[in-house]
Amino acid sequence: MTPHEIYKLIEDGMACVEEELARQSRSGVPMIENIGRYICNSGGKRVRPAILLLSSRMCGYDGPIGPRLGAILEMIHSATLVHDDIIDNACVRRGHASVNARWGNEITVLMGDWLYMTSFSMALGERQFPILDVLIEATRKMVEGELIQLSYNGNVDITEEQHMDISRRKTAYLFAACSQLGGILGAAPEAAIERLRLYGLNVGLAFQLVDDVLDFTSDENTLGKPVGSDMQEGKLTLPLIYLLRDGRPEHRALVRNVLRTDALNGEGRDAVIRLVREYGAADRVLEKAHALAEEAKSCLETFPDCVARQALMSIPDYIVERDR
Ligand code: IPE
Ligand code: IPE
Ligand code: MG
Ligand code: MG
Repeated sequence: MTPHEIYKLIEDGMACVEEELARQSRSGVPMIENIGRYICNSGGKRVRPAILLLSSRMCGYDGPIGPRLGAILEMIHSATLVHDDIIDNACVRRGHASVNARWGNEITVLMGDWLYMTSFSMALGERQFPILDVLIEATRKMVEGELIQLSYNGNVDITEEQHMDISRRKTAYLFAACSQLGGILGAAPEAAIERLRLYGLNVGLAFQLVDDVLDFTSDENTLGKPVGSDMQEGKLTLPLIYLLRDGRPEHRALVRNVLRTDALNGEGRDAVIRLVREYGAADRVLEKAHALAEEAKSCLETFPDCVARQALMSIPDYIVERDR
């Protein structure tokens, strides 16, 4: 299925997600309303609520909690992004000025806090501990991922496993929460909920690996955020880790130098980007993302065939083939 067909399938649910997001930004505080509207209208892909709605539908639930939870997941995601952009000093997000670039760091930190707290207050409103458990655990892992990532900043000795651990925490657990919550809403058996969780975990990990590759291979216009920025921020992602492993010894010195001189060294950065492509490092990461996508699909094999399952089956492929 194409992304368009997938969204068409859950159109009503996604429209309710959008309504819920818009309603939440009408908080009565003008600053929050302005920024809330800005984030809401900036055009994210809404992958997380889509996975939640499809998973719940596959498990036989199509009620009102789905869109409300979808909005909660999207708001948690937005909170992580606004804080992440402060941490990464990023000026562009979704093709527009990032919230921190437009309103400054002080306001953006507080807006992120407001988004987190509003999401959790909405979740509390459902009065279901299993839902809260999943959301809080995923958010905690995400913050841990960001912290661990910072502790490795500029460290050229980071291993593949350490990087995978960071990616799992900062991105994959939230995807896992989306699919797992779908199973919880559908009151699916424990084993089925676990398979859904693993589906999301693999999808999320593939998603972050592709995000890391696009930072080397895409362009700002397509991506809606600057490219080459991970290196500029001192982050060694998997394409770079593979280059250091498979490239020539002098590449390590070059990468270390580029990481140390960051923004001033555009030429060095371009050279590293060229090497990552030349040595097939980006392709090898994409192969890994493909394998994770296959693993994700295999987690759905035991679910009965239905259109929601077909849509969930096509999401991993869409994620590894995406260009933004
Ligand atoms: C960006 O997530 C952050 C990562 C986990 C890589 P998305 O690519 O889902 O961001 P939007 O919501 O579509 O802008
Ligand atoms: C993902 O990491 C961000 C979070 C999950 C908080 P990145 O730093 O790679 O995300 P982008 O590239 O800024 O969207
Ligand atoms: Mg970032
Ligand atoms: Mg990134």
